[in-house]
Amino acid sequence: MSDEEPIVVWHEQAIDRAARERLAGHRGAVVWFTGLSGSGKSTIANAVDALLHARSVRTYVLDGDNVRHGLNAAPAMLTPAFGKDFAQRFGLGFAPEDRVENIRRIGSVAKLFADAGIVTLTAFVSPYRADRDTVRSTLGGGIAEGGDFVEVFVDTPLEICEARDPKGLYKKARAGEIKNFTGIDDPYEAPARAELTLAGGAHDGATLAQQVVQYLEQAGVLP
Ligand code: PPS
Repeated sequence: MSDEEPIVVWHEQAIDRAARERLAGHRGAVVWFTGLSGSGKSTIANAVDALLHARSVRTYVLDGDNVRHGLNAAPAMLTPAFGKDFAQRFGLGFAPEDRVENIRRIGSVAKLFADAGIVTLTAFVSPYRADRDTVRSTLGGGIAEGGDFVEVFVDTPLEICEARDPKGLYKKARAGEIKNFTGIDDPYEAPARAELTLAGGAHDGATLAQQVVQYLEQAGVLP
């Protein structure tokens, strides 16, 4: 491959975002859930998904574990099909630079979904504030400033996440069997200006999902 900068030019599409949103009957947006592993992000995102789907809102959930099965698969998952060098270069694990790239790719996908007039619900640990802020600006800012981004902090204390330990990962991290585990030996940087903070340990997923829907109504995302 040549080191020369490739020449790529943005093409406008025949059907624009406004037309897609008219067809959907609502605007596109990205509801970005962030929080520790086991905080309840996926549960709440899926509960919001069901509530919105029942109201005929076009939605989609992008979930950390699922996206890491495909677009952002780990090197070991890519190796059989693509070989070791390719897998090492493009597969993603949990080292800090891998997480940065994980969130960059998801932010970029979420932007396409917003452009398609979809309310996208993302459930990634997304532990680093700078990466979430980059996604925020990629999406034109927060929803209140006319952008597409709604940051939802699932604020569940580490002790509760660790007691839940649905996949047994905290136990492995404490035993040193998993390195760079968020909250144990890798930092979680809580949002400084989330649109919404959910008291994850204090209420069940259904109650918290209602709070998100209420916020989206007030913010004008929902018809
Ligand atoms: S990140 O930090 O945003 O890139 O992570 P994400 O893509 O959301 O993936 C998080 C899920 O992967 C599992 N897992 C880990 N999480 C944190 N740190 C380490 N080292 C790790 N290794 C595996 C974990 O089950 C996360 O799932 P959730 O649903 O958040 O519990």
